[in-house]
Amino acid sequence: MIYRTLGKTGLLVTQLGYGTMGLRGPNTWGVRVVEDEASERFLNLVLDCGINFLDTAPDYGVAEERIGRAISSRRSEYYLATKCGCAYIQHDDHIEIKHAWRPEVVQRNLETSLTRMETDYVDLLQFHGGDAESLQQAGLIDQLIRFREEGIVRHIGISTKLPDLPDLLALGVFETFQVAYSCLAPVHHDIITEAAEAGAGIIIRGGIAHGGPDAEIQRPALNDVWNAANLEDLLTDGMTRAELILRYTLSHPHCDTAIVGTCNEDHLRENIAAAAKGALPEELVQEIRQRVAAL
Ligand SMILES: NC(=O)c1ccc[n+]([C@@H]2O[C@H](COP(=O)([O-])OP(=O)(O)OC[C@H]3O[C@@H](n4cnc5c(N)ncnc54)[C@H](OP(=O)(O)O)[C@@H]3O)[C@@H](O)[C@H]2O)c1
Repeated sequence: MIYRTLGKTGLLVTQLGYGTMGLRGPNTWGVRVVEDEASERFLNLVLDCGINFLDTAPDYGVAEERIGRAISSRRSEYYLATKCGCAYIQHDDHIEIKHAWRPEVVQRNLETSLTRMETDYVDLLQFHGGDAESLQQAGLIDQLIRFREEGIVRHIGISTKLPDLPDLLALGVFETFQVAYSCLAPVHHDIITEAAEAGAGIIIRGGIAHGGPDAEIQRPALNDVWNAANLEDLLTDGMTRAELILRYTLSHPHCDTAIVGTCNEDHLRENIAAAAKGALPEELVQEIRQRVAAL
């Protein structure tokens, strides 16, 4: 495992982290439903493999409860990041995802997360989106700072994207930024550098570009980029598409952890092996970047 310091938090995290959205269970969204037993076995396997950074959210169905049931007894082995501002509605057959920037929602999210995950603190509480003005005007940033002072939250951050990111960065309060990034969707490349140079820890989502054509939830636009840039041509010596994409993501000098989501043991082991190889050779990074930029 390669470890990185997550910016100002000082947490020493594995550069390959784990995103738990795939463990959301029944009556949520998507086609695949991972059952309780499989998900609990999988979470233990993630820790057994040495991954020490987990990302979740109140609106990922039963993912938080599964973390509590499966691995709360191993709480010292992982850093736990969850989110707030989630005003989801659980219908009989699906979850309606909504966000609300109100103190009572943030308070309820944190209380629920702690109960579900059978813990008395989270290492990182992130706003699940939101812009600087809304979060500030509603007093939510002060609220997170109070949680941190009370010790129930160790660090505060935000999951975000352009165009909200520069104003959020300018607030100077967030210890981490979670953003989407891969060679197929590189739009956040420079702002990641800017945030990291300001001292923030960088958490990458979408770092394996959602896995490609066989993935459960398809992102056709990403597959189109792969094909149009002829990246298949660059796969040599048995390198898979997933390895190339993931190692490109890990090549970003400021990728502290990439929270790759998988519920497939073979994929998990493949990702661990790819992450252990580390960054791609610089000439390959440049070639991929140029091919995608030329589109
Ligand atoms: N707004 C937000 O805050 C937000 C939004 C989205 C996601 N997230 C977080 O980020 C995490 C990751 O995001 P994501 O799931 O959107 O993107 P991702 O990690 O790039 O893609 C996950 C997909 O890639 C597939 N995959 C993983 N390893 C693979 C491999 N070696 N070969 C082929 N396919 C592979 C997985 O399928 P298999 O299970 O079949 O391997 C899964 O369908 C989530 O779990 C969540 O924690 C946050």
